[in-house]
Amino acid sequence: MPLVTSTKMFEKAYAGNYAIGAFNVNNMEIVQAITEAAKEENAPLILQVSSGARKYAKHVYLMHLIQAALEDTGLPICMHLDHGDTFELCKSCIDGGFTSVMIDGSHHPFEENIRLTKQVVDYAHDHGVVVEGELGRLAGIEDDVNVADKDAAFTRPEEVEEFVTKTGVDSLAIAIGTSHGAFKFKGEPRLRFDILEEVQKRLPGYPIVLHGASSVVPEYVEMINANGGKMPGARGVPEDMLRKAAAMAVCKINIDSDLRLGMTGTIRKYFNEHPEHFDPRQYLGPARANIKEIVRNKLVNVLGCNNKADEVL
Ligand code: G3H
Ligand code: 13P
Ligand code: ZN
Repeated sequence: MPLVTSTKMFEKAYAGNYAIGAFNVNNMEIVQAITEAAKEENAPLILQVSSGARKYAKHVYLMHLIQAALEDTGLPICMHLDHGDTFELCKSCIDGGFTSVMIDGSHHPFEENIRLTKQVVDYAHDHGVVVEGELGRLAGIEDDVNVADKDAAFTRPEEVEEFVTKTGVDSLAIAIGTSHGAFKFKGEPRLRFDILEEVQKRLPGYPIVLHGASSVVPEYVEMINANGGKMPGARGVPEDMLRKAAAMAVCKINIDSDLRLGMTGTIRKYFNEHPEHFDPRQYLGPARANIKEIVRNKLVNVLGCNNKADEVL
């Protein structure tokens, strides 16, 4: 089957109180790990590509890897641009076959964010592609934009109706206390569910997106640190908070850092245990297997989207 948009995925996820996993992909092993877990759990999927990933692996390679995953699994898969920051980048992904793009105008003033988002929406909708926008700024690294803690800002619920109405955007990422990367909270993890609730009230039935949603799986942080790495104080979003968000208006949950930690931890451990090995398949194979189990846990125990693929076919 061809790539799909996220429209039907979000309709079903909203009604069923679950969320779709949006996992970042950078190479073949990551694509295979995610899609094999989703195949075994019969889960619909969003595979997302950042501009950094596109520079690293090239558009055409990622497109063909995802085409291969479609052929191999028969799953409904949406291919999404993560954190597009210009019209030109979004256009290039739309022209190149993506079925969904994010235009992240969150660092612009409100009116400019509306203008830029609407420009992308107009072009995308003419080409059958859906668009995610963002209001509020997450701390952390968003591609080339490094948002310092002091510049982070929660979403203002009083702005969401105007933003969605004026832009026609299909889903909205909001900032409620998550951030990108492996160091999300200085103290106890806390998310502003009151903001999510207020947004949900103002936009009934409308799909909300949560970025920065890795749980920073302790097993892999420990594996990294036990094998020569140094990640003091890593802390992510607790799984019960993600389950709560998924049962509310959040229909798309973005996960990248957990896959990076899984891959790095596994490879560090492998080299420590097998310093004489140099065949990449020897260490990439176990890394792929562990990413697959991380993804399976998300699909089944956190997002609740296992056995939902048939709903959107
Ligand atoms: O939110 C950002 C994603 O984790 C992608 O990161 O820009 O390093 O590919 P990247
Ligand atoms: P994490 O860094 O928490 O995995 O977030 C990823 C993300 O939001 C990609 O857009
Ligand atoms: Zn993000």
